[in-house]
Order: sequence, then structure tokens, then C-alpha cells
Amino acid sequence: MAHYTSMGAVPPKRHTQHRDSAGNLYYEELMGEEGFSSDSSLLYHRRIPSEISAAEVWQVPDQTLTPNHPLKPLHLKLRDLFPDGGPGVDAVTGRRLILGNSDVRISYVVAESASPFYRNAIGDELVYIERGSAQVDTVFGAFEVGRGDYVVIPRATTHRWLPKPPGDDADHEPLRAYCIEAASHITSPKSYRSRFGQLLEHSPYCERDLRLPEGPLLAEDIGADAGDETQVYVKHRGPGPGGIAGTIYTHPFHVLDVVGWDGCLYPYVFNISDFEPITGRVHQPPPAHQVFECWNVVVCNFVPRKVDYHPLAIPVPYYHSNVDSDEVMFYVDGDYEARKGSGIGIGSVSLHPGGHAHGPQPGAMERSLGAEYFDETAVMVDTFKPLELGEGALACDDGRYLLSWHTTNSVPEP
Ligand SMILES: [Fe+2]
Repeated sequence: MAHYTSMGAVPPKRHTQHRDSAGNLYYEELMGEEGFSSDSSLLYHRRIPSEISAAEVWQVPDQTLTPNHPLKPLHLKLRDLFPDGGPGVDAVTGRRLILGNSDVRISYVVAESASPFYRNAIGDELVYIERGSAQVDTVFGAFEVGRGDYVVIPRATTHRWLPKPPGDDADHEPLRAYCIEAASHITSPKSYRSRFGQLLEHSPYCERDLRLPEGPLLAEDIGADAGDETQVYVKHRGPGPGGIAGTIYTHPFHVLDVVGWDGCLYPYVFNISDFEPITGRVHQPPPAHQVFECWNVVVCNFVPRKVDYHPLAIPVPYYHSNVDSDEVMFYVDGDYEARKGSGIGIGSVSLHPGGHAHGPQPGAMERSLGAEYFDETAVMVDTFKPLELGEGALACDDGRYLLSWHTTNSVPEP
């Protein structure tokens, strides 16, 4: 995110004295990536950010991964994981792990309760809001987020999730969040950017489409809970399953104490409806739909669009064998043409692993002929290492997706 921004009170010269109205110095923190060699921001705190009074173990949600063996394409019904909605569940500690490897972990949560303050010290997070709405408080400021938002949260950003009651949401839905936790930094695709970082003309989105935090958010501005002590749940490398562990830090002050910041590293929001689809006379491959990337992972989205307009075009995808990747589709809106007949619907995830050629279910190709428009929205994660199954996937696997391409009338029981 090489897009310089400044918010709140910052001194005219970096690394110089910055004082409040009573003459007290603020404490400058550099938050920077790749040592001191990549994007960074400078934040000015009222209190010393290092000051902690306790550290205790946080038992993070189950991070156990099970190999996908025998190798199967899967249909995961995420909504079955939270049949009662999200009362008593928060968007940090309530996440259920779906799929993962050493580069990325994907989890899902339906949340109606406020989360604790949270910091992911392993990598950046990309949280897609399937339904519902929330306020996200961060040390950089706050966001109002809702349906279709990608919330990009850099590694080590202190933040919390405050879901809006389902009755306040336009869809009357609780917060439904699809959480992509990388072990690296999540950025716009390099191919979309100039060598200095600006999004180029051929990019399907540009800087104007990105929402910045409203801030900085001072502790006295956030209401009755602005006490003298706060806890921050830190997810980090450690001795648990997958090498993931958690620690709870207690700070003897409120952690939203930043009076100003500037730089090129900060959380931001991009709504999927601002992605301008690239279409063609014949089928466009997934790289035309790419929206983000990180190490060994790409994120694409399929949005409502005019479809292929060659007179003999076949609008649904050809069968494809992604020999180097596993493909995860999360179906969030509309009617996904190529998957008809498979049982897949809103809230479904399909996993198409490398080693299995996949494509439309029987009949979908023929039905698509002559179509001019697809009303479908899906988020796709492709990984270059095989994905394993989290406890959430094991709990909501439909058990029969591998048979959905079977062309005889009598489909065998799995
Ligand atoms: Fe595919």
C-alpha cells in the first residue's frame, strides 16, 4: 500500500519532539515491514506502546489440520457451522478453521458479540464480510464495514470487531466473516501497479476505491469502556498445532491511544462491488479476476458481469487442471451458473485440489449457451501448496461433492 496518508497530529519533521498541550512528549512508534526496507508508518502514542503488566496464554481456536486424503474435491456448507447465528460469539476467538497450509489459513465466523482487542503477529489478514455489519476499531482509526467489504489489516495492527445487532443491518443478518489469514503481506497484484506503487489504468480498481480509517481514534472518544487497562490477544508463532499460539498482553492503559500517524502502511477497506470486471469475446481466465495476492496465494473475485460475446462462446469455464494449485471458491451472492446441480449455494465453499481436473457440472455448459450476463459473486483463493482441512471443514463437508460430475442417472452413495 504505497499510498501516503497522514491523519491526526503529527510533527512537521519525523523523529522530532511532538508534545500535547500540557507539554508532555508523545511516543513515536515505527510500524514497518521487512525490517526497515518496505512500507511503514509512524504512530504517535500517549503511552509507551511497549508497556505491559502481564502476559498469559491464550488458547487460540483449534488450528489442527488434517490432510485431504484420499484426495477429494469438497463442498463445505459453512452456514451449518453456526446454525443459531452468532449470539455469544465474537469475530476473533469464535473463528472456525476451514482450510490451511503454511502460507494461509481460512476460517469462518458468525459473530454478534464484541471481540477483544486482537493483533495477528503472523501475517496480514483479509476479512471478507459476507453479510452483516460491524465497526472495526484500530490504532489507525475506525471503519464501518458491511456486506461485500474486504477489510485488509496489516500484521501486528491492534484492532477489535464490534458487530452491529442483526436488527440494525439492512439484510437483518449477523456479521458473517470469511477470514483469510496469511503468513505474509497481502497486497494488490504487482501486475496492477507501477514500479512506484500506483495502481495502473488496466487495474480493475484504483486508489479512489479504497476506504481509509476514520481517525485516529483516541481512547476518550470511544465511550464508557475507555478504562485504564486493556488486554490484547496476540496470535503468533508458537508451540500449538500448525505452529500457532496465542498470548494475552495486559496494558495498563487503553491501547487506542494514537493521536496521529502517517505513512504507507495502514488498514483499508475495498468493496467487491467496486471491482470492475474484465470481459472478453471468449472466456477470461481467473487472473483477469485477481484482486489481491500474498506469498504463494492469490485472491480473485467473480462479480456480476456481461459474459463472453463471441457468437459461438461457451460462457461457463472450460474444464481445467490447476496442476500447481488448490482452488477454494466461496459463493456469496447470486446464482453460480457453473455449479448448478452440485448442491452449492450461498455460503458454500468448494475445494478443487490440484490433481483433479474440474469444471462445470453436467448440463451447465449447454445451459449457458447464449447467456449474456452472470449474476454471481464469489471469492476465490488459490494456493500453491496443498490445503489441509481444519475442524470446521470436517464438520460441514457435504460428503458427496466428488460425485457431482457423475453423468448417469443413478449416482452411487459415497
Ligand atoms: Fe476452477
